[in-house]
Amino acid sequence: MKKTVKKIQKYKPENKKIAALTAYDFYTAKYLDMAGIDLILVGDSAANVVLGYDSTTRITVDEMLIFTSAVARGTKEALVVADMPFMSYNVSVEQGLLNAAKFIARGADAVKIEGGSEYTFELVKRLTQSGIPVLAHLGFTPQYINTIGGNYIQGKDFDTTIQILNAAKNLEKAGAFAIVLELMPKEASKFISEKLNMPTIGIGAGSGCDGQILVINDLIGKFDEFSPKFARKYFDSKAMIIDCAKKYITDVQNGNFPNDEESFKLDDEELKNLENYK
Ligand code: KIV
Repeated sequence: MKKTVKKIQKYKPENKKIAALTAYDFYTAKYLDMAGIDLILVGDSAANVVLGYDSTTRITVDEMLIFTSAVARGTKEALVVADMPFMSYNVSVEQGLLNAAKFIARGADAVKIEGGSEYTFELVKRLTQSGIPVLAHLGFTPQYINTIGGNYIQGKDFDTTIQILNAAKNLEKAGAFAIVLELMPKEASKFISEKLNMPTIGIGAGSGCDGQILVINDLIGKFDEFSPKFARKYFDSKAMIIDCAKKYITDVQNGNFPNDEESFKLDDEELKNLENYK
């Protein structure tokens, strides 16, 4: 059964944690869905982990739409959230609404936007009023990397934690159904989670959040530019891919691939004709 925004919001009063992961392609989405994941985010992290850009600010709406439709086709039950990329919603509310509508048309159930300004509150309100559920995102917001500079961990003191809490409350009031809290001290994100009705989904924000999200490539070890402290690696895809490729290369070079079972055969008569051909 489809995990709707309303169903996922009910987890919090029931003390049930939300398990979320990113995905960017049909089969990963299909398998995560089969495993029972609650929410799949088509993250703009695709910029780094799929397209090899050096920042999430490089990915475009057109690129994100391709990943979104593939994930939506592969997903039956999980809530599919499309990450709206850098500057695809910051020019005007109208631009944000039109771009969000493209993601919904490609199969997303909701969109995610970063930030906690007055403008963001207005946009969240207009999206929600238009029937597009919004997952908000505060704490470290990678699309603001160039203005944030190197201070990745957010909410390291009382004042900044209260600032994040107030912005989160405004996003909740504007209609956001949940919020991602990224890179925060665990006590700060727990404090914020306890003060909100909407669920918080943490990444690098400790266990006090109402759910957790990770980038799938970190989980399965298919990204080696850096390894975030908070990302638990459950598998080493890099080693597995290199190992399989090495074995394949050796088999091709030795003539061990393909074997008879892996080949199509001519009928005996056709073979005889070929053999008799001068
Ligand atoms: O793009 C992304 O992967 C994210 C994280 C919060 C998972 O925004």
